[in-house]
Amino acid sequence: MANINGFYLCIVGFAAMFVDTSGDLEEPKCLSRFDYDHKMLHKLINLEKIVETLKESLRQSEEKMIESLRHSEVVIEKLSNKIGGFTAGKKHNEKGGGSDTICLPEDPSWSNFTTGTDGGRGYVYGTEIDIREPSGVFESRVNQQDIPCVACHIKTSSVIMIPGRSHCYTGWHLEYSGYLMTAFHDHHGPHNHVCVDHHPEALHRGEANDNQHILYVAVSKCGSLPCPPYDENKELACVVCSL
Ligand SMILES: *[C@@H]1O[C@H](CO)[C@@H](O)[C@H](O)[C@H]1NC(C)=O
Repeated sequence: MANINGFYLCIVGFAAMFVDTSGDLEEPKCLSRFDYDHKMLHKLINLEKIVETLKESLRQSEEKMIESLRHSEVVIEKLSNKIGGFTAGKKHNEKGGGSDTICLPEDPSWSNFTTGTDGGRGYVYGTEIDIREPSGVFESRVNQQDIPCVACHIKTSSVIMIPGRSHCYTGWHLEYSGYLMTAFHDHHGPHNHVCVDHHPEALHRGEANDNQHILYVAVSKCGSLPCPPYDENKELACVVCSL
């Protein structure tokens, strides 16, 4: 660049009588061999200017790309850090506690805490699945296994869990399908329903029969629920669909 600048200044000084150097270089008229040479040099100089401009904008785009790449990496890292967790809820034979099933993160952070043992508290237990095996429904063996949970990020706010469907309706995108699970019919309620993937995973060393918060497959019961289309004691499928 410095060399070219020097060259450029020299040429412009030399050609000062032909061109106006105050603004952008005007293309000189070609009147003689000398003019022809001058014109070629003029073009060369303009090309050099263009190359430098392109180089600069390329450098700027590269910087922008690297920055957005770094940003995506941070987002991915944040998401993947928060992706896994432990399914949890109330103990099957306690009357109280939350009615829902929650996904506790693997990396808890505490605010103020005590480790007192007074009775004035609700209890949150980890979840295991109890099922006769072979289950005839799930693709993996999970009896007595503690089960993980996952929070997934999708780019839409239209998400629905449909109990009693194994496929999404037309136009909807399948997130996952599985079986509807809830508490055992003779355990203390209340309890929500959750859609567990058809290929459930288990926590590492989660095979102990802890019998705390337990999920069972939910089956349809005829009566107020019309059969058909439903059927007695059939494991209800479920799907999570997004639009
Ligand atoms: C923790 O306890 C202190 C002292 O009681 C209190 O001032 C503070 O606000 C508490 N912090 C939170 C996050 O609850």
